[in-house]
Amino acid sequence: IKIISVVGARPNFMKIAPFVKAIEGHNALHPDKPVRHILVHTGQHYDMRMSEGFFRSLSIPDPDINLEIGSGTHAEQVGQTMIAFEKVLLQERPDWVVVVGDVNATLACSVTAKKLCIKVCHIEAGLRSGDITMPEEINRLVTDRLSDLLLTPDRLSNENLRREGVLDEKIGFVGNIMIDTLEANREKAANLDPSAILRENLLMPGADCPALNGSYALLTMHRPSNVDQKEILEPILNFLTDEVAVRMPVIWPIHPRTRKMLQTFGLWSKAMSCSNLVLLHPIGYHEMLRLNMQATVMLTDSGGLQEECCVLGTPCLTLRWNTERPVTLKEHGGASVLVGNNVERIRNEFLITLELDRSPQRPDLWDGKAAVRCVEELLRK
Ligand code: UD1
Repeated sequence: IKIISVVGARPNFMKIAPFVKAIEGHNALHPDKPVRHILVHTGQHYDMRMSEGFFRSLSIPDPDINLEIGSGTHAEQVGQTMIAFEKVLLQERPDWVVVVGDVNATLACSVTAKKLCIKVCHIEAGLRSGDITMPEEINRLVTDRLSDLLLTPDRLSNENLRREGVLDEKIGFVGNIMIDTLEANREKAANLDPSAILRENLLMPGADCPALNGSYALLTMHRPSNVDQKEILEPILNFLTDEVAVRMPVIWPIHPRTRKMLQTFGLWSKAMSCSNLVLLHPIGYHEMLRLNMQATVMLTDSGGLQEECCVLGTPCLTLRWNTERPVTLKEHGGASVLVGNNVERIRNEFLITLELDRSPQRPDLWDGKAAVRCVEELLRK
């Protein structure tokens, strides 16, 4: 069996790392029936800190093929990926294309494969935010509609797929593959020194850096719905500097898009001048995991961080009005609450959160063994 698996953007890398290891594990045990595997990177994320750093730290082998798509509009990214990926498929003729998550690479490569009648397996299938204004929701819907094998992270995702008419025989409930990466790297992350992480990743080297011996908040924000409009971004920034940072350090590894928008809107100097707002470059996987382990509160619009907070028990304010990962919400036993981008609501929940203890949760099959189940499901087909 020959498989091409695809990654494109940062959140894909922690999902493919355990999958590649599971294939290597299978091949070591079954040298007579090896899986031939080709790893394709579309190149949507290309900065050292957004891409290559994760390959190194998570020991992902270098991609066999890099399509070097880079940044652009969604149509540019998807169109260029399809053109380049089609050539790869025509040359390699795999039995399966495996896509993960919900980024533009996921969509582009699943459509391209199906047009050539190549089977598609989607890892992290069935997540639904119900919000079609999110580019990721479009990517999820189209990819799942086309996929031949839909590997789901939780039971709610199985239900979503059944409701959409997906046959049971196409659905494999494997659990959350990103938690495989968390479990495999927990110990290494725990050994890192949080203060050293700040010092080594400061956006302005030599800037004052608060000691992390008490409470601190951890923040990430990159969704267009939060950062692309000044009327939304500015009040959030004001809340962070004027209300959160006066109580505790706010650690903010900043996504390139967010940095660009703060600069465009003339908000950059305000962010830089608040000494308790610690601006970092995008940080590595272990560094983020380490800071998350000890954070008093997480504020984020990332999907993956909501899941990691659930397992680590970090109280999480999700800066969105909806989530495709409801299993991480308090009402389902998780650690996160939806606060949207309305400052009043963020403030209320922030104050409530300060009273909470950490409460780690483990949804079914978030056990660190999802990747092995993914490979088993693929080989069974
Ligand atoms: C993409 C994913 C999103 C994921 C996020 C994690 C889609 C539709 N979105 O969004 O689901 O949560 O990745 O980061 O696929 N840039 C750099 N260096 C890079 C990459 C990007 O500077 O290595 C800058 C560019 O200015 C670019 C902007 O970041 O225009 C946005 O990058 P893009 O790949 O379009 O989407 P993300 O917002 O990162």
